Amino acid sequence: MTDSHVTDYNPDSVGDPPVIENIRASVADAFDQVDELIVKQLRSDVDLVENVGHYIVAAGGKRLRPLLALLAARVLGDVSSDHVKFSAIIEFIHTATLLHDDVVDISSLRRGRATANETFGNAPSVLVGDFMYTRAFQLMVELGDLRLLEHMANTTNIIAEGEVLQLVRAGNASVNEAQYQEVIERKTAILFASACRGAAMLSDAPQHEQSLHDYGLHLGIAFQMIDDVLDYTGDPEEMGKNVGDDLSEGKPTLPLIHVMNTGSTEDRDIVRTAIETKSKDSLNDVVAAVTRCGGAEYTLARAIYHRDKAISALAEFDDSPEKSSLLQLATLSVERSH
Ligand code: IPE
Ligand code: IPE
Ligand code: MG
Ligand code: MG
Repeated sequence: MTDSHVTDYNPDSVGDPPVIENIRASVADAFDQVDELIVKQLRSDVDLVENVGHYIVAAGGKRLRPLLALLAARVLGDVSSDHVKFSAIIEFIHTATLLHDDVVDISSLRRGRATANETFGNAPSVLVGDFMYTRAFQLMVELGDLRLLEHMANTTNIIAEGEVLQLVRAGNASVNEAQYQEVIERKTAILFASACRGAAMLSDAPQHEQSLHDYGLHLGIAFQMIDDVLDYTGDPEEMGKNVGDDLSEGKPTLPLIHVMNTGSTEDRDIVRTAIETKSKDSLNDVVAAVTRCGGAEYTLARAIYHRDKAISALAEFDDSPEKSSLLQLATLSVERSH
């Protein structure tokens, strides 16, 4: 794996945007096995666990993180049954964070349906989230790879810390871009990075762990930046989530930080008050301020910067359909409406 053809890939070329279904098709068999395993591993003698678990899993979701793990495995060689299990583990961890996140964010819509907290209540959501986290670790022990176990223990700890850090910074309109990035790396990007790095660990390819980690990390940063734009500009129907949730929680995300950095006194006042009161009553005014300051465009530009870093991280790999899929996923994480 020496020759680099990465420059052949131009994410900004005009043409049809990548379609996730096509990317999934390149690892279809393994992907189906991951889905089966996820459903199988929701098994519990306690009905409520299965009910809540199936409720959120059956609603779908993009399954982006397991897809990353499978594609990374394929770039390095074969997809083993351990890779399939690891991919399911990653989705379990992601799903657990969503169950918890929707309680913390008091969100009512996820994956196009009422959130689990809205349907079953906060306590079942938190507790079934714990079930999923711990099931993930049971499965990880089955993999019998102590290094991977250590890595994932650290990853999940960083995610939890990131969510707490975000909570601490909610309502604070002085948060700067570096502090924002610290939060999104921890709460989101680290799991993308570990999906890719973990696949390399299981493929026994230590020489490629760092580059796959970097690819996943930058893709995850870009992905969350776009998520934070969509929270203001997206279509709830398409996203399957409500707009304005971040404002209700007083989250100082990048579109708002940009207003605080560059806006007029009036625009900064609108945004500061909304963040500090943790209210979306002034959502329309905030959106107008973000629009006047180009907050979405600025955030998109930062996401593109990280997309390109993700793409560069793959330079050491030879061209292959799977590498092409990873490159397309980097593009897709920026050019998306859900
Ligand atoms: C939602 O992740 C949480 C964020 C990191 C923004 P996804 O957008 O991948 O959620 P699903 O799994 O497709 O529903
Ligand atoms: C991502 O942040 C949270 C997790 C990493 C679980 P958000 O709070 O923006 O995610 P959504 O918008 O609710 O999916
Ligand atoms: Mg949320
Ligand atoms: Mg969001």
